[in-house]
Amino acid sequence: MQKPGILIINGPNLNMLGVRQPEIYGNVSFETYLENLHATFAEVTLGYYQSNHEGDLIDCIQESTKSYRGIVINPGAYTHTSVAIRDALAGIQIPVIEVHLSNIYSREQFRRISLIKEVCVSSFVGFGLDGYKMAVERMMEFIRAGF
Ligand code: DQA
Repeated sequence: MQKPGILIINGPNLNMLGVRQPEIYGNVSFETYLENLHATFAEVTLGYYQSNHEGDLIDCIQESTKSYRGIVINPGAYTHTSVAIRDALAGIQIPVIEVHLSNIYSREQFRRISLIKEVCVSSFVGFGLDGYKMAVERMMEFIRAGF
């Protein structure tokens, strides 16, 4: 049987993980962490896409349903500003889980609003990189349940 596909999408500045504000976001790059994820979830086809550009993220979301059963997304700062990314997520028929490394609800006021929260089936916030692992596990449960 074909392995289920889950797509991880990271938004702006998340290509700088490991270098960028390590006191908040840690000192491991996403590429390094992704190797662990691949090893942990051998039964899943994990895709990965990162962009610093809003339109590219939207294109990726729109295309995702052709190859994937679910999306795990950290839109970075677009979480707080992008109605367009929210609309793209609302417009697809596969489940979406939101991840943030930091606890956005205990940081600056402007980070406390997630425009995507309501179009996601679940959110993992403030668990650092482990949040992605938790999100993939949860997504597997959704997929097994027939979503
Ligand atoms: C972030 C939180 C956002 O506020 C910030 O702009 C990011 C990363 C997080 O993962 O904690 O780029 O999404």
